[in-house]
Amino acid sequence: MGGAGRVSDADQLDTGEIELDIESLAAGGEGVGRLPDGRVAFVPFTAVGDRVVVRVVEERARFVRAVWVAIRRRGVGRTTPGCPHYGRCGGCSWQHLDYATQLVAKEGILAESLMRIGGIEPAEPIRVVPSPRPYGYRGRTRVHVQNGRVGYRERRSTVVAPVSTCPVLVEPLVEELEALGKSLTEKRPGSKGKSRERRRSRMASVEWELAVGTSGVPRVQRLPAQGGPSVRIRVREDFLEFSPGVFAQSNLFLLDELVEAVDSAVGRGSNALELYAGAGLFTLGLARRFQRVMAVEANRNAVRDLGVNLTAAGIDNVEIACARVESIASSLPIPPAGYEVVFVDPPRSGLPKSSVDWIHGFCRPRRLVYLSCNPATLARDLSRFVELDYEVGRVRGFDLFPQTPHVEALAVLERPGE
Ligand SMILES: C[S@@+](CC[C@H](N)C(=O)[O-])C[C@H]1O[C@@H](n2cnc3c(N)ncnc32)[C@H](O)[C@@H]1O
Repeated sequence: MGGAGRVSDADQLDTGEIELDIESLAAGGEGVGRLPDGRVAFVPFTAVGDRVVVRVVEERARFVRAVWVAIRRRGVGRTTPGCPHYGRCGGCSWQHLDYATQLVAKEGILAESLMRIGGIEPAEPIRVVPSPRPYGYRGRTRVHVQNGRVGYRERRSTVVAPVSTCPVLVEPLVEELEALGKSLTEKRPGSKGKSRERRRSRMASVEWELAVGTSGVPRVQRLPAQGGPSVRIRVREDFLEFSPGVFAQSNLFLLDELVEAVDSAVGRGSNALELYAGAGLFTLGLARRFQRVMAVEANRNAVRDLGVNLTAAGIDNVEIACARVESIASSLPIPPAGYEVVFVDPPRSGLPKSSVDWIHGFCRPRRLVYLSCNPATLARDLSRFVELDYEVGRVRGFDLFPQTPHVEALAVLERPGE
């Protein structure tokens, strides 16, 4: 069964099922194999080196999606998933891979995305900094409540898979998740009939945010939030406040290392610009390294938290613009010599093309530091800067999301001759 060569590595079986080898892992986490007709097959929950029998569930001209029905040979780094909901819940699709294998795969995904999408080969091999905790690391999550059931969306679906526990959460949030599930499915003592939340949740899927800081009481909040207590997270010597609904990096155990890395990547100087500043995780470090910082953030609650966090740290050299990055180009004050350094930390969609052009043409930084949670848009944006004459230096990964294929990346670009 199976001969030499790529295409003949897959065999069509009498049942219509196909036996194939998994050769690599895609950025979305699926194993990648080849059908006998040469098309790529994406097969979730597989490992490199697996020989699996698959059933095709979606056909396209150049690729198919398939599910495995049997494993003939176990590949590299297979291990026992740590969660009873693995496979149905769409959250952590790499629990069948041991942690060392996940890290190597993320290094490969980053390098491959940069090369394939952006034609970029970083100055040195990419290393991914491990999370000190491969489980029990998340201090923030959003769950869906649908028909009185609490859970996460199933893979590539809007259906909510109910969950009773979630081992990537820190312990206090696991308890809150269980309590939320019970409160929505059980009659409360003293209440007549169904709870208010339960009646509400039957109508549609609603989102709840569960968050906890470095110490203190977990916050459980229905979204969109109308006020509510902040969560306090210690980052190095600072305590930062995050209001409900405001973005906060979810892995509580890599924050110091990530902030240190951004600090050393940006260096020191007189004027820095930060785009997508959030509640200020990186702004405090920038403010201590530059004489003046301009911070741009669109979310009003985040901007309010940013002001609070700067004041608490005794910092007064940051100007905040509450605006969308793509609409601020004409109004943002730019120092006569431009901004020496621009630091960006955009959402998964990356930087709009117009913002890349504006950064290059008007801000004119000698160094651009880019933090990204999406290797594909990072590769696209870096290649646009390269076209504008920047050179890509070091790229590092940070494993903020163990048990998932997601990876955070920090890239440094310089303008040669500056
Ligand atoms: C990935 S988060 C980073 C936040 C912050 N750097 C941190 O790590 O905590 C992206 C941030 O960009 C903000 N944002 C999203 N779209 C934006 C836009 N078009 N203009 C300005 N800010 C935006 C979000 O509110 C969020 O705070």
